[in-house]
Amino acid sequence: MNNCLILKGDICHTPVLGEIETLENGYVISVDGICRGVFSELPEEYRGLPVKEFPDALIMPGMSDLHTHASQFAYRGMGMDEELLDWLENWAFPEECKFADPAYTEKAYGLFAESMRKSATTRALIFATIHREATLALMEKLEDTGIVSYVGKVNMNRNSPDSLNEGSTEEAVKNTELWVKEALAKKFDHTFPIITPRFIPTCTDDLLQELGRVAREHHLPVQSHLSENPEEGEWVLELMPDISFYGEGYEKYGLFGKDVPTVMAHCIYSNPEEVELMRKNGVFIAHCPNSNMNIRSGIAPVRKYLQKEMRIGLGTDVAGGMSLSMFRAITDTIQMSKLYWRLIDQEAKALTFAEAFYLATKGGGAFFGKVGSFEPGYAFDAVVISDRRFTTLRKLTLKQRLEQAVNLGLDLNCLIAKYAEGRECLCIPDKA
Ligand code: GUN
Ligand code: FE
Repeated sequence: MNNCLILKGDICHTPVLGEIETLENGYVISVDGICRGVFSELPEEYRGLPVKEFPDALIMPGMSDLHTHASQFAYRGMGMDEELLDWLENWAFPEECKFADPAYTEKAYGLFAESMRKSATTRALIFATIHREATLALMEKLEDTGIVSYVGKVNMNRNSPDSLNEGSTEEAVKNTELWVKEALAKKFDHTFPIITPRFIPTCTDDLLQELGRVAREHHLPVQSHLSENPEEGEWVLELMPDISFYGEGYEKYGLFGKDVPTVMAHCIYSNPEEVELMRKNGVFIAHCPNSNMNIRSGIAPVRKYLQKEMRIGLGTDVAGGMSLSMFRAITDTIQMSKLYWRLIDQEAKALTFAEAFYLATKGGGAFFGKVGSFEPGYAFDAVVISDRRFTTLRKLTLKQRLEQAVNLGLDLNCLIAKYAEGRECLCIPDKA
């Protein structure tokens, strides 16, 4: 059988929110990049085919990072004493200016792509900068990692430093359409453009309107930021006096899920109308707990979004977030939900490990289609993690091993293999 991949090891996934399924020493099978399921015995038709054995290693679905900034990777773990608007001015914008320089771009995006390759992430939605050429260079590098990604050339034409201001709406749109054309002409196999207005404060109304048109014309998805910080929210309502809530500013221009798939990062201060519109339009929420702590944004009501069966996944939001680790995002999601319950709303039960793991895999994976689970018919995205060093002291169940591996952050130093759509992104079995 061509294009068949069989992995053997200790398998974990969450087909249902809040329920981890495990199988020790089991098989998970991919044919043409599509999962055929999890098996305790190798089915007849696959006997005799090569099996990649990962004894005692954890095999789990790949992680979907629904929100991160490649262009801020260089200063991750620094400069987190300010709130959003000052932080953008003092940290994000000065760094992003540097991507006008091809030599800097080459180095900075090279480091980002290498870290992505070595992470447990198999799918990602990524912000670049306003620079067309740098964004194409990032896409080339991401294509090479094997992961599936959507990459956005950022749009900004107001309230931005001169060197990050795209100028007139006409110029910004021309540049963006040229980038879309060039990106599509590259015919990447698994790297795609996504329309990326940075957020309402940096985009004029006519630019937002044009971006809505471009997204519709090319059937491209949209990513942006929403209701992240109280001052930001007030500013948006001043800038657009005719709207009654932040999300309406995107909705008005076809950038809020109804016309094209849309991901909004944060959604901490969304009012009931905004929440209802997101639910109705199927907008994906990228919950970014590490960033929300670092730049003191707040705590998003994740339990409420789950109860309303909204679409939600996790994001690392580097460099508001300090790490590309999606394991860290899972841990932070749980911890933040505990504080939310204790300090804000005792009706909002804290998230369990199984729920947060689901968000990082199948929850966010849903943006890409059938992704983030080993159920038959799902895209075969898998990571293999060795937890050998940590299991010797006591006998743990497979569920306990998974929880410990995630909370100890083993994704960034114990990853031994990674597959996206059945494609090998990395395989270093000796590391186990
Ligand atoms: N809002 C607008 N731009 C940004 C950014 O770069 N990071 C975060 N966290 N929020 C934003
Ligand atoms: Fe962000």
